[in-house]
Amino acid sequence: MVGKFISFEGPDGAGKTSVLQALLPQLQAHAQQAVVLTREPGGARISEKIRELILDPQNTEMDARTEALLYAASRRQHLVEKILPALAKGAIVVCDRFVDSSVAYQGAGRQIGEDAVLAMNQFATAGVQPALTIYLDVPAAVGLARIQAHRQATQYDRLDRERLDFHERVRAAYLRLAQQQPQRIVTIDATQALSAVVAECLGVIQQTLGAQWQA
Ligand SMILES: Nc1ncnc2c1ncn2[C@@H]1O[C@H](COP(=O)(O)OP(=O)(O)OP(=O)(O)O)[C@@H](O)[C@H]1O
Ligand SMILES: [Mg+2]
Repeated sequence: MVGKFISFEGPDGAGKTSVLQALLPQLQAHAQQAVVLTREPGGARISEKIRELILDPQNTEMDARTEALLYAASRRQHLVEKILPALAKGAIVVCDRFVDSSVAYQGAGRQIGEDAVLAMNQFATAGVQPALTIYLDVPAAVGLARIQAHRQATQYDRLDRERLDFHERVRAAYLRLAQQQPQRIVTIDATQALSAVVAECLGVIQQTLGAQWQA
């Protein structure tokens, strides 16, 4: 692997997608290699189909372990079809959510066990991990309030409808992961203004890229 793999994580409404949109042109301007921005299912056809199953509001009978297995399967296909080939070409691949999301949402949120979900995902990824994970931290209520302010209730998918305690468990799991893996995961206070969050993220990425970053 010659490229650089970076993931963005955080609870719903933390600002991952907004930050990445703002970051992308700056990254493209300063990075020496191609920058690939992606998110699961990432346009991989099989991953898309799996994702439809997970998010379909009609699938109310979906078992929590089934959901976790489907996420891992979708991730695997996206990894193989998109992330690994881009890394092999030397690109900087920035992914909106990766394995940590499953550990937090399925492991802690759905309470099927963070270690079990991690182990399943290690099988799915064959151990591929981001070199850097930026964790955008917000209290669950802040993230949910941001989303509610910008969407109609009818646009919510099945996973959005979870209660606040679910999202609190998700955040707590992220904080545990960040504490356990400080060498990979950098926590940024995402309650700040978007511009401040973006600036901090750029600083962290610049440090990670080192000589691959040109002023
Ligand atoms: N730092 C910020 N301050 C205030 N509002 C923000 C900030 N960052 C993002 N927002 C707003 O919060 C909402 C959610 O942001 P965004 O979609 O980027 O979050 P996300 O982390 O990608 O969420 P999801 O996990 O649901 O995809 C958007 O309406 C966005 O404009
Ligand atoms: Mg998003």
